[in-house]
Amino acid sequence: MCGIVGYVGGRSAQDVVIDGLRRLEYRGYDSAGVALVHEGSVEGRKKAGKLANLEKAISEDPLPVSTIGLGHTRWATHGAPNDVNAHPHRGYGGRVAVVHNGIIENFDDLRARLEEEGHQMVSETDTEIVAHLLELQVDSGEDLTTAMQRVCRRLEGAFTLVAIDGQDPDRVVAARRNSPLVVGLGEGENFLGSDVAAFIEFTREALELGQDQVVTITREGVQVSTFDGRPAEGRAYHVDWDLSAAEKDGHDWFMRKEIFEQPRAVADSLLGRRTRSGALQLDEMRLSDQELRDIDKIIIIAAGTSFYAGLVAKYAIEHWCRVPVEVELSSEFRYRDPILDYSTLVVAISQSGETADTLQAIRHARTQRSKVLAICNTNGSTIPRESDAVIYTHAGPEIGVASTKGFLTQLVACYLLALYLAQVKGTRYGDEITQVLGQLEAMPDHISEVLAKADQVYDLAREHVGSRSVLFLGRHAGYPVALEGALKLKELAYLHAEGFAAGELKHGPIALVEQGLPVLCVVPPRGRDQLHDKMISGIQEVRARGARTICLAEEGDTSIEPYADVLLTLPRVPVLLQPLVAVVPLQLFACELATAMGHDVDQPRNLAKSVTVE
Ligand code: M6R
Repeated sequence: MCGIVGYVGGRSAQDVVIDGLRRLEYRGYDSAGVALVHEGSVEGRKKAGKLANLEKAISEDPLPVSTIGLGHTRWATHGAPNDVNAHPHRGYGGRVAVVHNGIIENFDDLRARLEEEGHQMVSETDTEIVAHLLELQVDSGEDLTTAMQRVCRRLEGAFTLVAIDGQDPDRVVAARRNSPLVVGLGEGENFLGSDVAAFIEFTREALELGQDQVVTITREGVQVSTFDGRPAEGRAYHVDWDLSAAEKDGHDWFMRKEIFEQPRAVADSLLGRRTRSGALQLDEMRLSDQELRDIDKIIIIAAGTSFYAGLVAKYAIEHWCRVPVEVELSSEFRYRDPILDYSTLVVAISQSGETADTLQAIRHARTQRSKVLAICNTNGSTIPRESDAVIYTHAGPEIGVASTKGFLTQLVACYLLALYLAQVKGTRYGDEITQVLGQLEAMPDHISEVLAKADQVYDLAREHVGSRSVLFLGRHAGYPVALEGALKLKELAYLHAEGFAAGELKHGPIALVEQGLPVLCVVPPRGRDQLHDKMISGIQEVRARGARTICLAEEGDTSIEPYADVLLTLPRVPVLLQPLVAVVPLQLFACELATAMGHDVDQPRNLAKSVTVE
């Protein structure tokens, strides 16, 4: 949700900022803009649409050379995605330029006051008022750091702000509240970014900032303070992936590259989880065994794909640990007044660690004395920082807006959590846990087997260009897979797609079935005979009504052949782990269908990777 870059050093700020924006464009692509300090003033360009439009505008009307600047790629909240509303925004005299991610909730009030004082706004954004407020401060003689501290004290809502002052060629100042911002630490240069991808080409040393902090970067160093002006400190950390991880590596889309990285991502997420004696260990688990033993209810909160990972976790945790689990959309959670106390463990699942709905939900849970455990892929992000414990997934950067390897590694973390709880609570014998860990460790190879058959899925996907609607059916742990398959198709191919629990079909949704309707069916492994057979009944029901059944079933399952118009085989794996392989063909299907329809797979319309507004 908006990408932000800031730079001061010895390089061309325009190049650094545009490169950074390219790697942050997944966060929003409604418009892009850049501003530089040059000879006592600010020079900038901004343009609606993707970054390419801005680059074209700059090539037609070049900017002066400068070594200090900032940039922005937008996901629109206040005001249409046009040139005027694009960031950076300028103060009344054009001295200050500001970029912003988030929402300033009291902007109406502040805008009205400024207008009473004679200020005229040119955009519909909530950001422009910040530029005016900062400019009032620097015009009165304050430096930009003090100006930012003063202005932030007046702002309500969630925001990351980055600003430059045309009359100060040495500093870029930023602030954050409930919205992401990291500092990149260089030699004679420093960087700001919504995430580390913005500056990973130049440095892998980063500084994580706390809530309500202002940071000033100069060529010589970095100073952090609170909004009150008191000195503060960030947490320095080393980024353990490099530039190549943030590039496409010969694939047409980041999403496709990320799908094919899944065997590695799953393997990495399993690394180092066993002690010498073979017992399961979770390093970042900051909750004591006693605290975990005291837990009598788990509530999982998450959004989108992460929510579906939570639904799979429910099956695993309840089965292995015998603890009741509720799974709740984070945007709904705190509004239903959930019953929470110290014996409830809240598990927040978020790839980005910045999803505002999930962040607000964990804050609510902590006010009710519940412990919060985060499952997250992004070191330095807000959700793990505000949680009592964290299990990091090791997917590496996920750039495609549609989550793929993020989902699979979340599943791995959920299984690990479930097994760890089973170990601590003694609900499973040690050898059973070791057996499942062994099965998990075999999953990267099984995922590779599925990927080796990608061409079959691609052919199938291309046959469906022109379909208006696609249904997905699953049961048990296959039900969240069906939901995830449908979400992938909605967000990438803009098709009507819905996932159903197969047993629920007869209670209404079967009315949707008509001649030729494609229905993708995730068939449970045969180990659970009843579940498997019930699923076959569901498939027969839709086929009898004219549906074209595309069945994903384990290899050797001949019982499905009479009912499958198309059969895609999956490796033989345990029922609870089947989502790790079953979802992969659905990812490939959506990616290829969207490609064949001519859509931008990495940047689907209306979406952004990280949703930092409620
Ligand atoms: O970063 P998070 O995991 O918290 O994000 C949650 C959702 O916004 C995300 O999974 C979204 O649904 C994806 N675009 C799905 O592909």
